[in-house]
Amino acid sequence: MSTVSPASRTRIHQELQGQTIIVIGGSAGIGLETARRASAEGAKLILTGRNPERLQQAADEFETLRTAAFDATDSAQLDQFFQDLPGPIDHIVVTAGRPNYGRLIDLDSGAVRHALEQHLLLYIAVARNSIHKVRPGGSLIFMGGTGGRRTALGLGIVTTMTAALPALTASLALEVAPVRVNLIAAGFVDTPLSATLLGDELENRRNQLRATLPIGRVVQPEDVAALALHLMTNTALTGATYDIDGGQQFVAA
Ligand SMILES: NC(=O)c1ccc[n+]([C@@H]2O[C@H](COP(=O)([O-])OP(=O)(O)OC[C@H]3O[C@@H](n4cnc5c(N)ncnc54)[C@H](OP(=O)(O)O)[C@@H]3O)[C@@H](O)[C@H]2O)c1
Repeated sequence: MSTVSPASRTRIHQELQGQTIIVIGGSAGIGLETARRASAEGAKLILTGRNPERLQQAADEFETLRTAAFDATDSAQLDQFFQDLPGPIDHIVVTAGRPNYGRLIDLDSGAVRHALEQHLLLYIAVARNSIHKVRPGGSLIFMGGTGGRRTALGLGIVTTMTAALPALTASLALEVAPVRVNLIAAGFVDTPLSATLLGDELENRRNQLRATLPIGRVVQPEDVAALALHLMTNTALTGATYDIDGGQQFVAA
């Protein structure tokens, strides 16, 4: 009979022991939850975000190697951040950014460029900077969505990005191999971003999702973090898109 308690079993099997993980956008929501979980699995974290106070608050929660407060869509600052890294990295998770809504024809070129910068251009810049920094077999994890799989008025840039990101991920996976690249496509996740976007409508939206999603509950940041850790530790996975939306794309929710 085993005398190993569940707690000590967890410690023995810490899957990210000694690994270093960067979370770009790690001070809230999915990024913060991924950092928490990675830390519990023995990883050392490097966290970034724009708001320095929020970033420090997150960093105080667990063992953090360093923090860097800057806008990740500023390519000069992003390049500098990578140049200043203290040593090799095992995984980079990018959860910075937010969706941009509105009709394409109403967006001026600055707004379109900003929307592209938040996901597409940022991911390419991170991949470029990861060369010689991320260990072979390590990974890059990007965020996309399932909400734009169906076109609707006002979702123009979201649907465009939704279609482009899996192709971008597959191409980058070939280019930066043996580093792996994967995309998480989430539906509604209950994060500070969702709270900001929905305002007073947040609780109604949660109730609607509980009533309509096949899983009968709202997807939480913890669910997405668990998937992110799987993508880090399963070294067979690269170039692919992983949906996590509780079945939202299959129901009218
Ligand atoms: N929540 C959802 O339902 C959902 C669904 C599908 C996809 N996604 C995508 O998943 C990602 C994470 O979403 P979330 O809901 O976890 O968002 P969140 O709660 O707003 O957290 C985003 C994190 O990224 C940081 N951040 C945002 N913009 C940044 C920038 N330009 N430079 C550096 N850091 C930045 C934020 O801190 P600061 O604000 O201090 O910078 C925060 O730490 C986003 O790309 C989002 O579009 C979310």
